[in-house]
Amino acid sequence: MFEEAQYFAPVATRDDGTVEVELAASHPGFADPVYRARRNAIAALAVDYVPGTPIPTAEYTPQEHEVWALVSRELAIKHRVYATAEYLNAVERLGLPRDRIPQLQEVSELLYPLTGFRYIPAAGLVPLREFYGVLADGFFHSTQYIRHHSTPLYTPEPDVVHEVIGHANSLASDRYARLYRLAGGAARRVESDAALEFISKVFWFTLEFGVMTDQGELRAYGAGILSSYGEIEEFRGMDIRPLDVARMGTTQYDITKYQDVLFRADSLDHLEDVVGEFWATCDDDSIARLVADAR
Ligand code: TRP
Ligand code: FE
Repeated sequence: MFEEAQYFAPVATRDDGTVEVELAASHPGFADPVYRARRNAIAALAVDYVPGTPIPTAEYTPQEHEVWALVSRELAIKHRVYATAEYLNAVERLGLPRDRIPQLQEVSELLYPLTGFRYIPAAGLVPLREFYGVLADGFFHSTQYIRHHSTPLYTPEPDVVHEVIGHANSLASDRYARLYRLAGGAARRVESDAALEFISKVFWFTLEFGVMTDQGELRAYGAGILSSYGEIEEFRGMDIRPLDVARMGTTQYDITKYQDVLFRADSLDHLEDVVGEFWATCDDDSIARLVADAR
């Protein structure tokens, strides 16, 4: 199916009601029993979550808070050089803590008055239709665990650093938040899985891994680049292509490594004109034509 699926560790509920996250043997936390217990405990919070109620508090360990503090500090330095002005302003606006992992409930309460977005805890992979569809209503599904302390600079598995430093900061911008909502509306509108996958790929190459010319330089606005202080140092050297919806919607990518093909918008206005307009108006037929044209 969709590439993202393999990078969310499967979550199983045992007969005795306990929740177990099945980490792959290659996962940096695979042989770390303390980390595995943390993952199971945090996944259980999301499994039991009742929509509309406050998000349960994850009691993070001192070591987990240290990972956040380290990554936050490193990223804040890189963002000044590599992130767009719109993102940097949104960081100021949201005002996340840097010394400790914020609770998702707290993130949601900071975000909601700004752009109407709220967080929903996710134990693992959320079906694409659900994940994208609810963006239209201002809901964002988020993991709650943090990456293993041995790999702070990059993880192939989305974690709370990515969801919050990457996405929540972006969602604090009125203009980026509008684009997320438009992607959600598009996902709701289409019927075929092929069209949904196309929309999700455009999302991947923009709101996850998009770059643009900003202040005369190539800067990142994609949450996946903005949450990795390893990848953020590399993106300017990648294969940078012009913004093109048909190409983005049909280009394959490998989620396990630094993205080597990126699409550049000339400006935020350009991104809104091309991608915002696409999401606002696309349907199954128009996407089928774009796919045919891309061949
Ligand atoms: N690589 C990102 C980081 O280190 C996190 C991440 C994992 C991610 N999988 C992703 C980001 C998929 C975007 C899309 O912060
Ligand atoms: Fe993401």
